[in-house]
Amino acid sequence: MTAPEIRRIGVVGLGAMGAGIAQLAIEAGYETVGRDVSSELGDAASGRIAHFLQRKVDKERMSVEEREAALGLLTTTTDLAGFADCDLVIEAIVEELDAKLELFAALEGIVGPDAILATNTSALSVTEIASSVSTPDRVVGMHFFNPAPLMPLVEIVRAELSSDAAVEAAFQVGERMGKRPIRCHDTPGFVVNRVLIPLLNDCIRVLDEARVSPEDLDTAMTAGAGWPMGPCALVDLVGIDVHVHASEALYEKLREPRMAPPPRIVAMRNAGLLGRKSGRGFYVYD
Ligand code: 3HC
Repeated sequence: MTAPEIRRIGVVGLGAMGAGIAQLAIEAGYETVGRDVSSELGDAASGRIAHFLQRKVDKERMSVEEREAALGLLTTTTDLAGFADCDLVIEAIVEELDAKLELFAALEGIVGPDAILATNTSALSVTEIASSVSTPDRVVGMHFFNPAPLMPLVEIVRAELSSDAAVEAAFQVGERMGKRPIRCHDTPGFVVNRVLIPLLNDCIRVLDEARVSPEDLDTAMTAGAGWPMGPCALVDLVGIDVHVHASEALYEKLREPRMAPPPRIVAMRNAGLLGRKSGRGFYVYD
């Protein structure tokens, strides 16, 4: 089995995760096309990527020439037809199954016969997403962690019908991006979220049980358990809506009470307190 060579990567959805994945792709030297629904969103993502690469230059982790070369590899589009020449398309759109099914079906009609289709889903089934195409062997999961440019892990998820070639190609792309990829099967939450989601839900429940403030809970878990950031800061970073959705998806599949999102965080989501992206979650952001 030989993994097909990947030269050109497409990224669908240029939110925090998609832009981070596009950044990784251009830094690894891949021609990259990013797609979002409006050119304003595409420009905003390009601007964020340019900013983070400038910070790397400022900190002498990248030369000016390397930054220019990387940015020269990035184009953005609003049209899925822009993925026609991509060898790998990574989907990072909203966590809604119907939207992903529709997208994958559309992508199948655009990309070449050997192109690999990957989803960055946090908690949906890759096998279910793959069911929307007539060639599910080309579909895999590539689950990056937030913030994608900084977190070393990528889970390479084998769905029921994924081919060895597609899994290996995705694994090799992860390696070339400087990540530490792991291989796993398409089970609810894969590896990290299967463990992390109930743990974060426990943390949120402790807020009320122990009547502790978010600041003190975060201090407890950083100073007492060695976490790099506290659970409230982490859920704000990931997005309250994303966390609630992942919890609901895992609860639906596993029926374990710890998977269910605590009412407190569902209320926050319903009130539009989504964490960093909305300016307010457990904390307030500028
Ligand atoms: N994209 C690109 N670059 C970024 C970035 C981003 N989103 N955010 C920060 N950077 C760059 C910045 O240039 C920054 O430098 P600057 O401040 O000088 O400009 C540089 O990275 C370092 O940033 P920090 O000083 O904030 O880095 P820290 O050393 O504090 O580490 C951290 C930050 C890596 C986020 C660390 O706190 C950590 O590991 N936190 C835990 C994160 C985690 O657990 N993520 C997983 C969440 S679960 C998930 O994603 C699964 C999903 O399915 C829900």
